[in-house]
Amino acid sequence: MILLDGKKTSQEIKDEIAKEVQKVSEKTGKKPHLAVVLVGNNGASVTYVNAKLKDCKEVGFDSTLVKLSETISEKELLEEVHKLNEDDAVDGYIVQLPLPKHIDEQKVIMAIDPEKDVDGFHPQNLGRMALNLPTFLPATPMGIIDLLDRYNIETGGKHCVVIGRSHIVGLPASILMGRNAYPGNATVTLTHSRTTNLKELLNEADIIIAALGKPNFVTADMVKDGVVIIDVGTTRVVDKSKKSGHRLVGDVDFEKVAEKASYITPVPGGVGPMTRVSLLKNTLMAARRK
Ligand code: GUN
Repeated sequence: MILLDGKKTSQEIKDEIAKEVQKVSEKTGKKPHLAVVLVGNNGASVTYVNAKLKDCKEVGFDSTLVKLSETISEKELLEEVHKLNEDDAVDGYIVQLPLPKHIDEQKVIMAIDPEKDVDGFHPQNLGRMALNLPTFLPATPMGIIDLLDRYNIETGGKHCVVIGRSHIVGLPASILMGRNAYPGNATVTLTHSRTTNLKELLNEADIIIAALGKPNFVTADMVKDGVVIIDVGTTRVVDKSKKSGHRLVGDVDFEKVAEKASYITPVPGGVGPMTRVSLLKNTLMAARRK
């Protein structure tokens, strides 16, 4: 079994980005600039946003945090989005999800200038992704693809089963794995809560991308020998022994499944760091385009 080390791989990519930033800023006097919109105080969102800002600092990007109240109206948030669209100093930005219930997320995503949509969530960018045109790819699926690439894992003709059809992970990951490209060219099955024969499908899978958000859902009896496991799950469970009071648990029963797998991502330290570095890659691309 080979561990797919997202921490180490993402650090390599970060080092490459930092070098590139230095070159670009020596030439133009400008650094790539990411803005992050955070609405409210959702614990996980605050952690993710802080991590994203820390990453920017590490590679030499400028960053701005736009912190907004939980009670902001949809109209006011859309005004903030328009301001960021118009702000020439900002190369790319994201609106951290989820948003409070009274705000229509899709409406907000649609208001983001596709040229600044470094999350790759705008329908124009998702459409470009599906058509294999250059675009901002959503961060988690891009991180998965980069990890498979860096470890030279064969995907062509393989059966890839994706669990979960979220707009952020499962759906775009299934499109990327099926594209005529490397990594890609897999035969993809996108499964979800209404799938009736998940166990059978998983038992036939060469590659499993688990993104359903249920701790230890995929167990050893469900997978075949030699399977490649990509675990996207990051459920917080209470753990008093940790300083934070919680730990992250993946969607895969790592200990037992690792004994059968050829490659497997750990949680934490697998897909998570790759997701973070993908946002940096998109921001660099946005800055270069300008
Ligand atoms: N919430 C969870 N993941 C993400 C992400 O990749 N981008 C944004 N904007 N919100 C998220």
